[in-house]
Amino acid sequence: MSKRVYVITSSDSCYAGEREDISGPTAIAMLREAGWELTGYAVLPDERQLLAEKLRAVCDGGLAELLITTGGTGFSQRDCMPEVTAEVAERMVPGIPEAMRWYSLQITPRAMLSRAAAGLRGNTLIVNLPGSPKAVRENLGAILDTLPHAMEMLRGGGH
Ligand code: MTE
Repeated sequence: MSKRVYVITSSDSCYAGEREDISGPTAIAMLREAGWELTGYAVLPDERQLLAEKLRAVCDGGLAELLITTGGTGFSQRDCMPEVTAEVAERMVPGIPEAMRWYSLQITPRAMLSRAAAGLRGNTLIVNLPGSPKAVRENLGAILDTLPHAMEMLRGGGH
């Protein structure tokens, strides 16, 4: 089974070089550890149109079965990752963010502030993670083991 992942960090400050992106590499390390092959990594500003174009390009170009984003899920005026995901997704997958928040709420009540979404476009599953490295570890950790089965179903393998 193909396990290719593309990771996108949505952050104005990381894009501007004011801050180092720790969250993207944190996700990449966890994914590699779990057997995923990284096919791309990009740091982009919190620009809705730019992010939507990038997500579409990764999905429609067949670059990865899994597209993980980090950042842009909070309440800042520029946070737009869930909106971008809903815009490009053909079908939403509410259970994944439900599971992440359910797990995360046992760690911090602030988990309720993540607006993360997940959805399918073509043969790619898009999953938003919050922006901090701690939140990446906890949220990705909650779903990592279940992702291979999602990939099997997406390939038409059923259960
Ligand atoms: N989820 C977990 N597991 N651990 C965390 O520390 N931080 C929360 C939340 N989810 C957090 C978490 C906080 S403080 C916010 S504001 C939201 O994710 C959104 O984060 P973002 O704005 O960095 O995307």
